[in-house]
Amino acid sequence: MSLHIVILAAGLGKRMHSTTPKVLHELGGKAILAHVIETALKLNPEQMHVVVGHGSEQIKQAMQAFPINWIMQEQQLGTGHALMQALPHIPAACHVLVLSGDVPLIQFNTLQALVSLAREETSNPCPLHLLVATLDNPFGLGRIIRNENHQICAIVEEKDATEHQRQIQEIYTGICCAESTLLRNLLPQLQTHNAQQEYYLTDIITLAAASRIPIGDLATTNPSETQGINNRLQLQQLERILQQQRATALMLGGVTLADTTRIDIRGELHCGMDVFIDVNNVFNGKVTLGDNAIIGANCVLSNVTIGAQSVILPNSVIEGSQIGDHCQVGPFARLRPGTILGEHCKVGNFVEAKNAVLDAGSKANHLSYLGDVTIGKQVNIGAGTITCNYDGAHKHQTIIEDGVFIGSDTQLVAPVTVGKNATIGAGSTIRTNVPPNELTLTESKQKTVYGWVRPRKNAID
Ligand code: UD1
Ligand code: CA
Repeated sequence: MSLHIVILAAGLGKRMHSTTPKVLHELGGKAILAHVIETALKLNPEQMHVVVGHGSEQIKQAMQAFPINWIMQEQQLGTGHALMQALPHIPAACHVLVLSGDVPLIQFNTLQALVSLAREETSNPCPLHLLVATLDNPFGLGRIIRNENHQICAIVEEKDATEHQRQIQEIYTGICCAESTLLRNLLPQLQTHNAQQEYYLTDIITLAAASRIPIGDLATTNPSETQGINNRLQLQQLERILQQQRATALMLGGVTLADTTRIDIRGELHCGMDVFIDVNNVFNGKVTLGDNAIIGANCVLSNVTIGAQSVILPNSVIEGSQIGDHCQVGPFARLRPGTILGEHCKVGNFVEAKNAVLDAGSKANHLSYLGDVTIGKQVNIGAGTITCNYDGAHKHQTIIEDGVFIGSDTQLVAPVTVGKNATIGAGSTIRTNVPPNELTLTESKQKTVYGWVRPRKNAID
């Protein structure tokens, strides 16, 4: 039988107190719902259906990269009602895996095990399998009720449970796998006679049990993978769990982290051999670190490639940039999109670069703005050099050829080219192209005003 997956995500997420739909809040740099979808897609379903209601347009827009059959649930009348909306899109004989859009850390292996169990028809004749867990604190979750033969016969929601039932620690994770025929028979029979006056999907258990339909279960021993997100506190707790998982995977893969609790990977981080990452670093989007790269404390790296043996000193912010091998960047450097450093480059403190290409061995060690500039090999950019790339309406390009030495406090008014091996004297304002090999400077005459007296504060003040 083929597999159809239905993800329930129509709820409002009232407890987030947000204008953003709950499933679009981010976990590890990705929407909560995207985690569920990506894991579910690995099961290669025939089709993936997502039931949406609140914020549906926003959700569809955000998830447009995924192959999804969107199902609208206009009114949120309960999880059973939500699944009902998907039934017309599901063929007669197939397995239906039901997932919650707000349970993002569910593991592929667990889902695969549940589906395999459902598919083992001869040895396991149950048309319904539940993923269950036993928790220290089961508060708020549906409790699994078993009969004297230890068979599952009901799920009781927290709000409907008796004091005695609330002591039960075995819970329903919100994830199940059912034959579509069973759902077609049972879902229309659901009633709303409960504390929340909703059509509970979980009530199909009672209906199945009443018809002596056996119910199978699979227990997961990893509670974080079935933890739902209903409020911002739970979101933050899962964020830390996810970050700890990512940090652990990095360490076991050969990366040294100064502290596994002080790293945030909000995307993909790929590392070579013997990389060292100091505390409090944030990685956004896709970041690649070459062999022996060192990332100092407090850096924010977004969509960056860093070459082998390169060192990023503390407090650097780097975005959309490529750093070659054997480079040194920072401390306090800001590299904006389009910055490309060849090998053995140095960009030091308080240097801002944007659309700046530095070829091998070039340096800008202190206090510069390098915007829309192409810099050749072995160039030295003195402290305080500024490319004046903007005339108030347009951006212009500066070209600095190989071997140039730019003296400190130089302004290069673009468009302008500085020829190979030229030297620019300190404090120059360069407005026209500079010939190669020569010293070029702009002079402003130095003068001394004899007898001048520096203003002083009035003695009475
Ligand atoms: C549900 C289960 C509970 C289980 C828990 C696990 C029911 C009745 N209860 O409770 O047994 O322990 O999950 O996390 O199923 N949704 C819709 N449409 C609706 C209502 C909900 O799409 O009309 C979606 C929600 O967006 C959410 C999911 O279904 O993604 C679960 O709904 P929620 O209200 O969070 O159920 P729980 O109270 O968590
Ligand atoms: Ca929930």
